[in-house]
Amino acid sequence: MRIEAPTDSAIREAAQAIRDGKLVVMPTETVYGLAADAMNALAVQKIFDAKGRPSDNPLIVHVASIEQAECIASKTPESARRLMRAFWPGPLTIVLPKGNQVPDRTTAGLDTVALRMPNHEVAIRLILESGTAIAAPSANLFMGLSPTRAENVDPILADQAVMVLDGGPCLIGLESTVVDCCDSPIRILRPGGVSKVEIEALLGEPVEAGQSSERRSPGMYRRHYATRTPIQIVDRLSFDQGGVGFNQPANQLQIALPNDPVAYGFGLYDALFQLDSWHLVTIFVEAPPQTPDWDAVWDRLRKASSEI
Ligand code: TXA
Ligand code: MG
Repeated sequence: MRIEAPTDSAIREAAQAIRDGKLVVMPTETVYGLAADAMNALAVQKIFDAKGRPSDNPLIVHVASIEQAECIASKTPESARRLMRAFWPGPLTIVLPKGNQVPDRTTAGLDTVALRMPNHEVAIRLILESGTAIAAPSANLFMGLSPTRAENVDPILADQAVMVLDGGPCLIGLESTVVDCCDSPIRILRPGGVSKVEIEALLGEPVEAGQSSERRSPGMYRRHYATRTPIQIVDRLSFDQGGVGFNQPANQLQIALPNDPVAYGFGLYDALFQLDSWHLVTIFVEAPPQTPDWDAVWDRLRKASSEI
């Protein structure tokens, strides 16, 4: 596993690898991504092979500008353009009808493409230097925990990439919000860093949330984002349990996270990663508040704690 600081020469080498159809692990503001040339079907196939990702799970295509996104989509509705202007670069992925140049492999055969402009300088430099759009799922093995630090990337996965570009800890720490703008009303397929409330406030109209039979994200398995250790959600951590809580830790196997959904999201995967390395029988997680601002956190906790 080769971790490189994001110097100009490392980014040039990584961009050349992308152009050559190879894999690179890149930082974004949400989680680290396993990157390949989105327009090269053979390169994209390597992502699926490396992760053990089912072939029906489409990838997010990362761009460096709104213009680049509009070239990749076959059509950009006004609502999507407004979301891009307001939230890009940032943790919002927008699903649009796809143009012909995007390989079916990238979108898992769908006639739509998911687009995102990441708010991370290293990712943007890599996209610009490689001169293409970059497909990148989270850089974890299938059903594993998404890494939010370079050193948390699974070595088995990292060894299949030319290098891991180290962009420091991911400041958002949870995957992006995925919103389907192909039809009206707009639908949030995965909650994340940009909330439903923020999207509705910007557009001035209600949006739907959750999967529907005809509008869904194929990759949304119930069990996901999981640790090797089983996770159980509890009202309160007891003094002898290991896990994630809100209060002053009662023992060395407890990690306290802030009672604020943004700060909690930033720390969650890192805390679970550490707890997983301690080989507990169960990781107990104290239930956060049941308010809409905790939606993204709850989505990940539910998936991480459910059985297959
Ligand atoms: O924050 C993120 O989004 C990170 C970083 C690396 O950008 N990426 C990420 O990728 O979380 P991944 O592959 O783990 O999750 C992508 C999600 C999946 O749930 C997938 O089903 C959905 O986006 N998706 C991708 N293309 C889609 C499409 N055309 N229609 C509906 N959902 C799509
Ligand atoms: Mg993922």
